[in-house]
Amino acid sequence: MKARRITDRVSLIGAVDWDRRLFDALIPIPDGTSYNAYLVSGSDRTALIDTVDPAFTEVLMAQLADVPKVDYVVAQHAEQDHSGSLGAVLERYPKAKIVCSERCKGMLIDLLHLPDGSFSPVADGDSLSLGDLTLKFLYTPWVHWPETMSTYVQQEKLLFSCDFFGSHLATTDLFAEERRVYEPAKRYFAEIMMPFRGMIQKNLDKLDGYKIRFIAPSHGPVYDKPAFIIDAYRDWVEAEPKNLAVIAYVSMHDSTRHLVDRLIDGLVAGGVGVERFDLTTIDLGKLATALVDATTVVIGTPTVLGGPHPAAATAAFLANALKPKMKYAAIVGSYGWGGKTVDQLAGLMPNVKAEFFEPVMCKGLPRAEDYAALDRLAEGIAAKHGELFGARA
Ligand code: FEO
Repeated sequence: MKARRITDRVSLIGAVDWDRRLFDALIPIPDGTSYNAYLVSGSDRTALIDTVDPAFTEVLMAQLADVPKVDYVVAQHAEQDHSGSLGAVLERYPKAKIVCSERCKGMLIDLLHLPDGSFSPVADGDSLSLGDLTLKFLYTPWVHWPETMSTYVQQEKLLFSCDFFGSHLATTDLFAEERRVYEPAKRYFAEIMMPFRGMIQKNLDKLDGYKIRFIAPSHGPVYDKPAFIIDAYRDWVEAEPKNLAVIAYVSMHDSTRHLVDRLIDGLVAGGVGVERFDLTTIDLGKLATALVDATTVVIGTPTVLGGPHPAAATAAFLANALKPKMKYAAIVGSYGWGGKTVDQLAGLMPNVKAEFFEPVMCKGLPRAEDYAALDRLAEGIAAKHGELFGARA
């Protein structure tokens, strides 16, 4: 795609990756993604904001073919999907300086072996004149790595936010269509940002002091109505979780599935919304997205070789790593002759700051007393939700 104008002096370039389905060899991205770079053309100097994933270097260089001079390359984030073409850009523009945080400089030298003399580090709040445009650099750590910064173009009231506010969405849309981008942006938040909620809140507060007409992230479309994504982030970061129980389970011979079905019946009767995920077929990004809003998380598992099924262990690991706002947790499952399933599963979640209900584990197929225990668990969860959201919320 050719450069597309956001304003007279700021253009979106970069690459759309329609086919990518896994990020960092870890994160499912069913809608593809984009690696956005931006060209800022001041009256005296030109800045390139970020580059693209190394696999798309040729696309970026073709877009720069008729750009005779780049004075600065602003590297907002060292991760290779944005920095991976820096070497090629420096070859093309050998006098260009890489503008980045001091910490980013160290990471870029480690990751890309770029020469020390290429850098011009900036501190939080520093400004850089391009003539009639001024770039102001705002450190926004942990969106996504500790070195990350954003860049504010004062005269255009435009914020380059890198991963912050991004979405893994391959699209030809220059500007975000809100109904289309909401789910990919929420999934992106869940998979990438949720563990850093506290820092994100501080970064959102920091942006409060700036008038913003456009937010231009490094993945997905540009926001020309930035309140939409800022309000969504405030909700995902700060708001209380919703009246939602997430049940993630795996069942080998239906015992655990029977438990889960009974639990869902009890929760729904108690006024609790439920999202149920079969871990053998789940897209883990969907589970992560549900965790953004969940007040309660229940993991269901059979006992395999004395412990939890590996799929259940993955779900526990995910909940532990993503640190959602959940307030309550429970483990249900089955066993044939023994094991340490509950201890091992709970041991995988040391970071989960939730109150754990008494687990329900049945031997073989559930019996009447197991269903009774599940009904008590459902009543207990519903009572807690009732306290938060009102009776039969
Ligand atoms: Fe899009 Fe953290 O890189």
